[in-house]
Formats: sequence, C-alpha cells, structure tokens
Amino acid sequence: MKTIIVSMIAAAGLVMAGSVMAEDMPALAKKSGCTACHTIEKKLVGPAWRDVAKAYNKVGATGTAVDPKAYQVSQKVSAILKEHGKATPEAWLEEKVAKGGKGDWFKSTAMIPNAPRVKAADIKELVDFILGLEKK
Ligand code: HEC
Repeated sequence: MKTIIVSMIAAAGLVMAGSVMAEDMPALAKKSGCTACHTIEKKLVGPAWRDVAKAYNKVGATGTAVDPKAYQVSQKVSAILKEHGKATPEAWLEEKVAKGGKGDWFKSTAMIPNAPRVKAADIKELVDFILGLEKK
C-alpha cells in the first residue's frame, strides 16, 4: 500500500512538472515525448531548443553561439556536419532525433532513439520547428 501511494505521488509530480515545462511546446512535441527531456528556453535533460536553433543557425566563423559553460561540448556546426557527412543542419538533426545519440552537447547524457515510435514526417516537422525558433 505504501509503495502504491508513493508511486502515485511520484506520478502526480511528473504530470505537474510536465505541464509546467511543456508550456511553450507544440502539441506534436508533447505527443512525441520530446517534452520529457526538452523545453524551449531551458536546458533540461537535453539542450534548450532555442539553444539548438542558435547553435545551428548562428554559428559562423566566429565559433559558439551558445554559452559554452551550459553545455559540455562546444558547438561548431561545420565540424559536426562534416563528422557525420551531412550537408545541412536539417539532414543531420533529422537523423540524430531518429537514432538518438550523444556527444554533441553533453559528453555522456544521450538522447534515446525516437524512431520508429515517432514517424519520419513528424521528426521533420519538429526539426523545422526547432530551427525556426531563431533566424539564420
Ligand atoms: C530521454 C531524453 C530525450 C528525449 C525523449 C528527447 N531528447 Fe532530444 N536530446 C536529448 C539529449 C540528452 C540531447 C543531447 C545529446 C548530445 O549531447 O549529443 C538531445 C539533443 C537534441 C537535439 C540536438 C541534436 C544535436 O546533435 O545537436 C535535437 C534537435 C533534439 N534533441 C530534438 C528532440 C526531439 C524532436 C525529440 C522528440 C521526438 C527529442 N529530442 C526527445 C534528450 C532527449
């Protein structure tokens, strides 16, 4: 009985945390489970989506567009794309979101594979939404 009550409280806490954190997130992101690890403005388990947009849209020859102290790995987009053999941020991020992985923002915290649970068309829509958060 005690365990049941404890897990019910834990579940309620998760639901509440989820609704607070998910405020700005599109319905598709909630439905796809992204909000368990991401918010738009703040780093959670994964990087803030606005920081992802900044990193991929605004990093030029000058280097990092996001606070290097907040993340463990510096974002040099040209290097990341080259390493993975991708021509555009869209192509790389669609593959990364589908397959999951680590090492681009944090040394050891990994993103889970989201495909095939999340369909390719939905992943594309989410990546377009994320990159659209900041102008190129
Ligand atoms: C279990 C937690 C978790 C879930 C669920 C999750 N992510 Fe992530 N995400 C992460 C982590 C951790 C990273 C950073 C990985 C790294 O350091 O390379 C990340 C990175 C990213 C990046 C940046 C990738 C890069 O290499 O620059 C994007 C874009 C992203 N996530 C989108 C999504 C989308 C869209 C969903 C939902 C379909 C999602 N994430 C679900 C944890 C998660």
